[in-house]
Amino acid sequence: MLYTLARSLMFKMDAETSHNLALSGMNAVSRLGLQRLAGARASDLPVEVMGIRFPNPVGLAAGLDKNGIAVDGLAAMGFGFIEVGTVTPRPQEGNPKPRLFRIPEHSAIINRMGFNNAGVDQLLKNLEASSYDGVLGINIGKNKDTPNKKAHEDYLLCFRKVYSRASYITVNISSPNTPGLRTLQFGDSLNSLLDCIKTEQAKLARLYKRYTPVTVKIAPDMGPEEFELVANALMTYEIDGVIATNTTLSRDGVEDSEFCDEAGGLSGAPVRNRSTAAIMALSRHLNGRIPIIGVGGITEGFDAAEKLDAGASLVQLYTGFIYKGPVLIRDSVRAIEKLNKT
Ligand code: FNR
Repeated sequence: MLYTLARSLMFKMDAETSHNLALSGMNAVSRLGLQRLAGARASDLPVEVMGIRFPNPVGLAAGLDKNGIAVDGLAAMGFGFIEVGTVTPRPQEGNPKPRLFRIPEHSAIINRMGFNNAGVDQLLKNLEASSYDGVLGINIGKNKDTPNKKAHEDYLLCFRKVYSRASYITVNISSPNTPGLRTLQFGDSLNSLLDCIKTEQAKLARLYKRYTPVTVKIAPDMGPEEFELVANALMTYEIDGVIATNTTLSRDGVEDSEFCDEAGGLSGAPVRNRSTAAIMALSRHLNGRIPIIGVGGITEGFDAAEKLDAGASLVQLYTGFIYKGPVLIRDSVRAIEKLNKT
């Protein structure tokens, strides 16, 4: 009820302003103990993936709380895990505004934020101020002005800094809004990046006496051979998990929208089938060796269960959560619970 009211007010504002307002409001709601009014807590449905125990398999996808400022409030809404970021070594502004376009008639968003974030050091400070002790993914990327041939330096720098705070670390090589980033998903660029990360992970695991799993987040815009190549690389380098998928460059399903020609990544209902197809393709090649976190177009409980049916072990929400609020977390957990019983 409270979410529906807040939503109708916020949807009257510019998309990015209301987004920022909602994030700052969330922690306040949590501090006041009002979260029960904002949305029911999701039921427990514990699951173990990558050696981590998740209280339920429905998480928050990266990009909503890039700087980790609202983790307590988000956690209180019932997510089984929260992924913050994408964060880069140095703070950066991102692309000029407007860069976020809501398409409610299709439960969709187009964004070209461009990794606007306060930098990895500020993220860690913000997390220190939070009392969240649940499962925390930290999603890392490279600064826009770092050339691709030096991208691994940015990833390694962030990786080292967040290693001991994160429950798992996501290497994001699939944002469409950082020029050239997606080329890191292929060939030698992918192999050398994964190699560096795994070598660093082994060193840090010895240093901290703690193993922090690494996931790689990929785009939905690949052909069947490309999914196979990516899956093979993930297995070769023994990556701990894969997140499928990021936003799409396709405009299928929003052709009639005034924002159809805006540059950026499309998310929400129109990306659902592409994302599920990516999960199925990866699942065929990975054959259970590496867990898949399914994300893309979950707008009702059924969609979450469908991702698990396609081969995912966990799911994440973003656009559907913006439109539906915390009730989508509960519906997703329930639909997965029902699927597990059949
Ligand atoms: C995103 N997404 C995203 N992903 C990521 O790895 N790092 C990021 O910084 C962002 N930023 C971001 C901003 C905005 C405004 C949106 C809508 C999305 C992608 C997101 O995590 C998710 O993978 C896709 O949006 C697909 O899921 P949904 O939104 O269809 O549930």
